[in-house]
Order: sequence, then structure tokens, then C-alpha cells
Amino acid sequence: MDPRLKVRALGLEFQNPVLVASGTFGYGDEYYDVMPFSELGALVTKTITREVRKGNPPPRIVETDSGMLNSIGLANVGLEKFLAEKLPWIAEHAGAARVIVNVAGFSVEEFIEVASVAGGAAGVDALEVNLGCPNVKAGYVHFGADPDSVRQVVSGVRAQVDVPLIAKLTPNVTDIAALAGAAVEAGADALSLINTIPGMKIDVERRKPTIAMGFGGLSGPAVRPVGVACVYKVYQQMVSMDHPVPIVGIGGICSAEHALEYIMAGASLVQVGTASFVHPQAARQVIEGLAEWCEQHGVKNISELVGAAHKV
Ligand SMILES: Cc1cc2nc3c(=O)[nH]c(=O)nc-3n(C[C@H](O)[C@H](O)[C@H](O)COP(=O)(O)O)c2cc1C
Repeated sequence: MDPRLKVRALGLEFQNPVLVASGTFGYGDEYYDVMPFSELGALVTKTITREVRKGNPPPRIVETDSGMLNSIGLANVGLEKFLAEKLPWIAEHAGAARVIVNVAGFSVEEFIEVASVAGGAAGVDALEVNLGCPNVKAGYVHFGADPDSVRQVVSGVRAQVDVPLIAKLTPNVTDIAALAGAAVEAGADALSLINTIPGMKIDVERRKPTIAMGFGGLSGPAVRPVGVACVYKVYQQMVSMDHPVPIVGIGGICSAEHALEYIMAGASLVQVGTASFVHPQAARQVIEGLAEWCEQHGVKNISELVGAAHKV
């Protein structure tokens, strides 16, 4: 464990600031032989919903220039199986890594139910609430697109769980800082940003969208400048608030330099997502690269760099 990479956030100690992003690392088991998540700051699980979900029909992933589109549709094993089969294995193999369970619901009530059960389970250090999920009762608009829905979900979950709560925001909004403010006022202990950005690829021979559902979520290097800009903007918003909370930077991180961009924009922690599909050990390379950068630049602890790009 490198003391320069140790980070304190959410009332927890992270052995390093590098996490893996929800939905890109499953439940940690499939990758374990090549990339044990115990080396990471934390494992963030695939989103868990109340019911088991098969997700959307294939094709549901396609590569694009500098990224990929996915329309997985929140396929997951469901809350019951997650608690009975996945979480015990995760807890047993976590070592010094934190365990963050990502949860969602298709109504405010489902969010609260899933979060309160998962948040009370042994071995769970924090919850990440996926606000990119559609609200079935409100015309399938994403919870994260509406400040009132953000408040309802976050304050409802906050009232039921004791573990730290991270609100994961979607960038598909007019003013992400306003949504961030709503989440913090409602009780979020940290903000994760960004989730994917809507996109489409057309198969010109079939004259149809390549992805069965038409639209997909864009991720990978293509979204990095969008993510960095969102973190920069939300960090400025946090500085102006009475109770600023840490930011978790996500989107297109493939190297230590990319992680540093997010950290200097204002992120205390970062998540590696799509890069793990290209190189399963991408997160380890980011950790090693950060330690080397700190060594070369005389940085005693990585937290010194948080928000560095804002200082004149
Ligand atoms: C195949 C795939 C599945 C994903 N599933 C989830 C999910 O279940 N829950 C969630 O909050 N985000 C999910 N995401 C979004 C990622 O966690 C992350 O926010 C996004 O991909 C941007 O990071 P990246 O460019 O490093 O991949 C998924 C992304 C991909 C590519």
C-alpha cells in the first residue's frame, strides 16, 4: 500500500483513489484471476434492482470511434440473489478494498426498498445510487434529469440507510450543477459523475440502428472531455455550498494522466469503466501510474492535487 495514494473520503479510508465503474466489472468475480479488486480503492458493483433482469435484447453493445455504445438495460441478478450469492463472495475477497453497491429502482419506492436492504447488509461500505434509471411512473424520464426526483430518491434513501451515500449523476441535463446541488441538499455524501451519454450507430447495409433498442449510452475515451468538464463545473458548485461533498470522477479514464485530469478538475476518487474491457488490468496501470507521478513530482499525498486546476 502506497501512503501517497491513501485517500479519506465519505468517512472511509481508501487504499488508493482508483475504483472500477458500475456495470463494467460485474460483481468482481469474473475478473478476479486477472485483476483482483482487492488491489483497488473500491469495487463498485453492477447496478442491483429489486427483481432479476435479463436486460435488453441483443445486439446491445457496439464499438465506436474512441468508445462504445451499450444498451444493456440494467441486466442483473436481482437483490435476493445478489445478497445470497454475490455479496458474501465479494466480502470474503475484498481485502483492503471498499465495497460499494450500486442500486436503482424504477420508482422512488423501489429505490428506497433496494437501497435500505442493500445498505444494511454486512460487508457493504457505501451505496451508489444510479440516478440514470428511468422513472416508470413519470413517463420514463430519468430520475437524474429532474431536481425534484433527485431530492425524493436521495432523501428517501438517506432516511433509511446508515452507510455513506453516493449519488451518481447523468450528464444528459441542462445544468448538472443544479442537479448536484439538489442531491447534496437531500443528503448525498458524495457525487459520482458521469454516466453514459445517449448515442446511436447506424448499420448502413441493414439501414437500421446497430443496437436493437436504437439508442445506446456512449462511454470510453470519447466522453472524457465531457466528464472532466462536468467535474470541474460541479466542483465550483461545491466550493460555493455550505457542506461541499467529494466528487467521484468517471468517463474515459484509461491512464494515470486521465485520472489526474479528473483529480485536478476536482475529483477525490476516480472510476475506471470501459478501459477494463480493452485491458482488464487498466485499473492497476492507473494506480501504478499515479504512484509514479506522485514520486516524480514530489507529491506527498494525492489529495493535495484535488481541484488543483482551479487554483490560480
Ligand atoms: C457495458 C456498460 C454497462 C454499464 N452499466 C452500468 C450500470 O449498471 N450502472 C451504472 O450506474 N452505470 C453503468 N455504466 C456506466 C459506467 O459505470 C460509467 O459511468 C460510464 O461507462 C462512463 O465511464 P467509462 O467511459 O470509463 O466507461 C455502464 C457502462 C458500460 C460501458
